[in-house]
Amino acid sequence: MKLLLLGSGGREHALAWKIAQSPKIEKLYIAPGNAGTGTVGENVTIKGDDFPAIRQFVLEKEIDMVVVGPEDPLVKGIYDYFKNDDALKNIPVIGPSKAGAVLEGSKEFAKGFMQRHGIPTAGYRSFTGEQLEEGLAYLETLQAPYVLKADGLCAGKGVLILNTLDEAKKELKEMLGGMFGNASSTVVIEEFLSGIECSVFVLTDGKNYKILPEAKDYKRIGEGDTGLNTGGMGSVSPVPFADKAWMQQVENRIIRPTVEGLAAEGIEYKGFIFFGLINVKGEPMVIEYNVRMGDPETESVMLRIKSDLVELFEGVAAGNLDEKNLEVDSRAAVCVMLVSGGYPETYEKGFLITGIEEVTDSIVFHAGTAMKDGQVVTAGGRVIAVSSYGANKEEALQQSFNAARKINFEKKYFRSDIGLDIH
Ligand code: AMP
Ligand code: GLY
Repeated sequence: MKLLLLGSGGREHALAWKIAQSPKIEKLYIAPGNAGTGTVGENVTIKGDDFPAIRQFVLEKEIDMVVVGPEDPLVKGIYDYFKNDDALKNIPVIGPSKAGAVLEGSKEFAKGFMQRHGIPTAGYRSFTGEQLEEGLAYLETLQAPYVLKADGLCAGKGVLILNTLDEAKKELKEMLGGMFGNASSTVVIEEFLSGIECSVFVLTDGKNYKILPEAKDYKRIGEGDTGLNTGGMGSVSPVPFADKAWMQQVENRIIRPTVEGLAAEGIEYKGFIFFGLINVKGEPMVIEYNVRMGDPETESVMLRIKSDLVELFEGVAAGNLDEKNLEVDSRAAVCVMLVSGGYPETYEKGFLITGIEEVTDSIVFHAGTAMKDGQVVTAGGRVIAVSSYGANKEEALQQSFNAARKINFEKKYFRSDIGLDIH
């Protein structure tokens, strides 16, 4: 099979690494990819949202399947683009339809969906610019901290958590006034939930689903979960509190009602669903949906999938995922992210990366890297994800921290407390 994977981050390198292990794969292309994906497949310089260019490439290279890494092409409707094109309609796209991608593309839709299907989530109301006064009045009925969410996609920046009523009111005015452009023309205000977060992933064919290994990610830049939010500084899988009983609750109250709810609403969904959960006094609740895998969770989760991922994708496409087998590695897997100094604020790019070849006991996934004059250089805020196995997470973390010290580039930074907060 010839497979095209869209995306260019650490998630895509981890997906590409796993896909390339499948005996079914004759050729793997990654568009646009990075220096790491180029070692397991062939990079193609096409952007994920350039649908006409993807069309031409897919037809020219006789691609058999397209797997979508990031949300952007999904929210823009790549699934429907293929389905509505006579030449492309028989080529499966792993990822939801545009209607399904709205679960991530609109926080208001996601909240309404959960309400319709009785899925546990924080209480909320949503407001548009014309309803500013009502929004301000609603804030007065809530307790601090206040959670404001821009309705649309904001590259992970659309959620504000404010400690005082004054700040919350000021931010609501700014958001509705166009702080995130169109994305914040509607704002969801929701109840603050307190607990530890956990990311749960499923692969669904629209009817059947497989629950993939769960993971916890570390979003803040600073040790002890301090400082600004990032795209993710590391991840661990499994998550100790996500035991059998907890996951059973997740399946019964969240996963099954979601998959059945999508089907009941006539929404085509053949791809990953990412449940951003929070454990509130032992009860799982949904913080958000994403319609793709998480990054950096994928860099741990892929290590724990023993089965052939491409075979699972075939089940997704054919609608017989129930006949496929998902085998999970009982070992722990973790990932530690090496980032550019200054990230998530301003940082420099183009620094030479050395030491990758010295790492023998971990898997080095590239996130923001590029090739320059035959050498690997930094090309983003999150640069490299170092993933490792271990009998437990402590052993796996030791491997990743060792490797994180061997790899060098100017102003390298990583958190050395990943995974140490959960027992
Ligand atoms: P989201 O983009 O919806 O994942 O939100 C970003 C982060 O904000 C989440 O990962 C949580 O850490 C936090 N967050 C979002 N909603 C809530 C909430 N209702 N209560 C507490 N924290 C929240
Ligand atoms: N790790 C969180 C995300 O991918 O959105």
